[in-house]
Amino acid sequence: VQYGLEALHTYLNTTNNQIIALVDKHTLQDCYPKIQTDIPFIQVPYGEGYKNLNSCEYIWKHLTELKATRKSILLCVGGGVLCDMGSLAGVLYQRGMRVVLCPTSLLAMVDAAIGGKNGVNFLGFKNYVGTFHQAEETFICTDFLETLPNKELVNGYVEMLKHGLIADKSHYDAVKMFFLSNSKHVTEELIKHSIALKLQHTQQDFKDKGIRQRLNFGHTIGHAIESWSLSIQEENKELSHGYSVALGIIAESFISKRLTGLSENDFNEITVVLQGFVKGLDHPLPRYRDIQGYLIADKKNVGEGVRFALLHNIGECTENHLVNEDVIADAMDYLHYLK
Ligand SMILES: NC(=O)c1ccc[n+]([C@@H]2O[C@H](COP(=O)([O-])OP(=O)(O)OC[C@H]3O[C@@H](n4cnc5c(N)ncnc54)[C@H](O)[C@@H]3O)[C@@H](O)[C@H]2O)c1
Ligand SMILES: [Zn+2]
Repeated sequence: VQYGLEALHTYLNTTNNQIIALVDKHTLQDCYPKIQTDIPFIQVPYGEGYKNLNSCEYIWKHLTELKATRKSILLCVGGGVLCDMGSLAGVLYQRGMRVVLCPTSLLAMVDAAIGGKNGVNFLGFKNYVGTFHQAEETFICTDFLETLPNKELVNGYVEMLKHGLIADKSHYDAVKMFFLSNSKHVTEELIKHSIALKLQHTQQDFKDKGIRQRLNFGHTIGHAIESWSLSIQEENKELSHGYSVALGIIAESFISKRLTGLSENDFNEITVVLQGFVKGLDHPLPRYRDIQGYLIADKKNVGEGVRFALLHNIGECTENHLVNEDVIADAMDYLHYLK
């Protein structure tokens, strides 16, 4: 991981190979100009609803037209959707071209562009087709955050809070201050620490068989809610990833209280910090039966039942807990109760 626009400029100016940028409408307008180059670009529609194989085909078609080879670099300039999808498209093009990530949303900087998972949604299931593949380089340039809409910033804070919840209470406390004050100016130091926490989990367990699954805290129910929302809402009206994960964190903290000894105090703390996501929701909230099919399809499951990463305390998490469906249903009811 490298930091700063200058490092990115140097990298782009010193490479002799063909570079092609991948952008969407927003990042073309707000981010691409900051890269100060005239590199050709491929533009895909923005939004989670376009994170699919059709968009990959579209990218491959344009790469072919631009005569890209394995030596060419696909520079993904965008949020988590573009980083995940661009990286997958790049890895498959001619069995693998070079992929460089330039995350432009807070969420992509601290999470999606770190750790080498890529993918697209398939048949309504989140990130169901993808690979583990480390990008050649990742550039974190906080200058891009200047144009990021507030609701997108919040999505990034949710993942940063999650990093604290599973592994570092003081990080959680520090991020919470920024999040609750709605600050646009998250420090590079906090971003770096979130990245370090994520890397701690991914480097020891690249293929997601053990402790990496702790990063999935809040995501078992979060992904199910997000998939369900994608299936019922019009384009770009769906619940965002960060929002869905915030709901997932509350629900899975509820389960942690029941099963892994999360104290009433810690549970209330988490609920109070994140309850704004439930109370302000102008989007329907599913019950257990609505998301059951998605939970059963979760990638962490082995054999029967649904597996969760759960909290013991704020700052301590373990993976691979089999949870009974009655408890999951109660957790979903709790979300309705909060609303
Ligand atoms: N691979 C992983 O490990 C991993 C981890 C977490 C999340 N994800 C994935 O990340 C995705 C969510 O990413 P996201 O929250 O960044 O959403 P996103 O990629 O949809 O970006 C959100 C919106 O912000 C716009 N945008 C991005 N940067 C901008 C900027 N600097 N200025 C103005 N507008 C900007 C985008 O065009 C888009 O409309 C989900 O698909 C999720 O599955 C992947
Ligand atoms: Zn996430």
